[in-house]
Amino acid sequence: MDPLLTDIVVLLRAKRPAHGTSAAGLAAALNIPVARLNRALDEIRELGYVLQVESSEAIRLVSSPDRMIDTEILSGLKTKLFARQLHCYRKIGSTNTRATQLAESGAPEGTVVVAEEQTGGRGRLGRSWHSAPGLGIWSSVILRPQMPLQRASGLSLLAALAFAEVAEERLGLRVDLKWPNDGLIDGKKILGVLTEVSAEVDRVYHAVCGTGINVSHQPHDFPPSLRPAAGSLAMAAGEPVDRIAFYRAFLERFETLYRRFRRGGIAPFLPDYRRRSILLGKDVTIRQGEQTISGVATGIDDNGALIIRSGKREVVISSGEATLSTS
Ligand code: BTN
Repeated sequence: MDPLLTDIVVLLRAKRPAHGTSAAGLAAALNIPVARLNRALDEIRELGYVLQVESSEAIRLVSSPDRMIDTEILSGLKTKLFARQLHCYRKIGSTNTRATQLAESGAPEGTVVVAEEQTGGRGRLGRSWHSAPGLGIWSSVILRPQMPLQRASGLSLLAALAFAEVAEERLGLRVDLKWPNDGLIDGKKILGVLTEVSAEVDRVYHAVCGTGINVSHQPHDFPPSLRPAAGSLAMAAGEPVDRIAFYRAFLERFETLYRRFRRGGIAPFLPDYRRRSILLGKDVTIRQGEQTISGVATGIDDNGALIIRSGKREVVISSGEATLSTS
């Protein structure tokens, strides 16, 4: 989309732009003819922005569309790395699949793919991910961390932590994390992370970190089979949640955590992760393909793997599906 439209929305959102927000002032600020500015304002309206011209001739942004479009995501986004290349789709099979294709053809680190709807959203362990149109954040980011494969599993934990921090700060919600990467509020799953990595053992080529965040769903928006276990930010907050503003805040926080992760790995984040973990100190069962292992979850190691005490043995589990044995 035309970057000019984003620039105009940014100016309209600014508290007191230097030249004011009259058509003439905006045109001067952007160094374009007023006729070009007026055409751009029409295009902005067509995207779903509501603009009002006041008696002073100031143009006021009355409301913004709840749509995953680049003008809306980029206006005010304070990232340096994430979403510098942004691919927005109204409908796509899976943002992870598309991001993987882009990564394989050389897309730079930080490239983001986001969709309003996924028709083939993928979950962990071969499951599907319900990705209804307009209700959630279905998004994938391409990362190229220079580290061995084992350490890259921390990326999922990192995305989950970024989500938890933003939900807490913006909405005052307490998020529990279920290793490795589920985010739950009041026992209902709101966040899922699917990280897919292309690597040799000693070196990651690229990772695609896909996050599914249920934002605006009400219970009837989920298929009946998911209703007992799935929730959304709006259900938890008891009021509508600004999906795009939440997404911008999530991208900014994830980028901040990722920059620190590139320098120091997952270890600095573990105290925070442990504090939110619902498994630690509990009897758990981990399923890894055909195998299951039960024991007490005693810790998370410096690679983000779960440590289980099973009888007299300590077992380090780097991936799998965890359930509380009592649940
Ligand atoms: C899980 O909990 O099983 C992980 C779910 C991950 C879903 C997200 S939605 C965006 C990205 N694209 C996909 O196809 N999957 C991830």
